[in-house]
Amino acid sequence: MIKILLTSVKYGMRLAKPVFTTEGKLLIDKGAFLREGYVYKLLNFGINEVYVEWDKNQHPPEYIEAITEDIKNNARTAMIEVIENIKLAKAVDADEIKQLVGQMIDRLLNNKETILYLTDIRTVDNYTFEHSLNVCLYALILGIALAYDNAKLETLGIGALLHDIGKLATPDEILNKPSRLEEQEYEIIKRHVLEGHRMIMLVPDINEEVALIIRDHHERYDGKGYPMGKSGKEIHEFARIVAICDVYDALTSDRVYKKRIPIHQAIEYLISMGNHQFDYTLTRLFINQLAIYPEGTFVKLETGEIAEVIKENRQWPTRPIVAIKYNTEGQALKLPYSVDLAKQLNIGIVHSL
Ligand SMILES: [Fe+2]
Repeated sequence: MIKILLTSVKYGMRLAKPVFTTEGKLLIDKGAFLREGYVYKLLNFGINEVYVEWDKNQHPPEYIEAITEDIKNNARTAMIEVIENIKLAKAVDADEIKQLVGQMIDRLLNNKETILYLTDIRTVDNYTFEHSLNVCLYALILGIALAYDNAKLETLGIGALLHDIGKLATPDEILNKPSRLEEQEYEIIKRHVLEGHRMIMLVPDINEEVALIIRDHHERYDGKGYPMGKSGKEIHEFARIVAICDVYDALTSDRVYKKRIPIHQAIEYLISMGNHQFDYTLTRLFINQLAIYPEGTFVKLETGEIAEVIKENRQWPTRPIVAIKYNTEGQALKLPYSVDLAKQLNIGIVHSL
């Protein structure tokens, strides 16, 4: 069994796991053979990956998941162990976390294509864990773009993975409160940076910069962050990186109290906050690493049609060249045709599928 992007699905492949909506409703059961109508239906529900049966002797398809289930499982185990030990005030063994971050670095360095598909890694369940993992991946990608060596990548990755560890000390009622936080509750949440710093300083052999990331990831470039109100380059570069990745992932993930916003809006937000909240140079570099509409992505157009991105536009990333594949009724076109959205300014992309 492998997980593949819907855009790489070949008709006739057999589903190895049932597909559910985010509300938990069964869409297509395991064992079904994928047909054209199914792909459209799934894309329309915002699903872009499925598990299909796969014979080990076959060549893998062009796309394989951004981050393997193995890495995810290792991450889960390592994080649970760290959390348990911290809760029990036991010594924390940082080796497992180091190994895990090492695996992620190797995978990212050996598989540049992965970067394009990072937008697919999120899931709604288990927000804190997924969020930590996403922030770690984004931070590593930015670190790689900054040509960091392995030692720096490791420190950055560990700090990013553990950046919110102090939330272990925040009561669940406050963390998962579906409504607006009272001033007083917000003050309690804010404590997670100093709590986390305290927790991590108890770990033997931990790099001090890891603790800095944890303490300073809510500092803001204009000095309006917390806990100390540091500004500009006073904030360690690693913490400036994690701040961007943290906010980007929070904006683009579903939370108990708010729905995610589309990627292009999150990007616009980050840019608009440049040098107020974030280091603008790092923000630009981060955005350059995210393909907003990577080739092969399916998008919904303002006309209601579904199209596939066939060529990115680096100058104007929200206006790639697309091939219209499905009409407004969801029927596949016998002869898909291409449209350059940089020339057809009356048609925009509503969102990617
Ligand atoms: Fe945080």
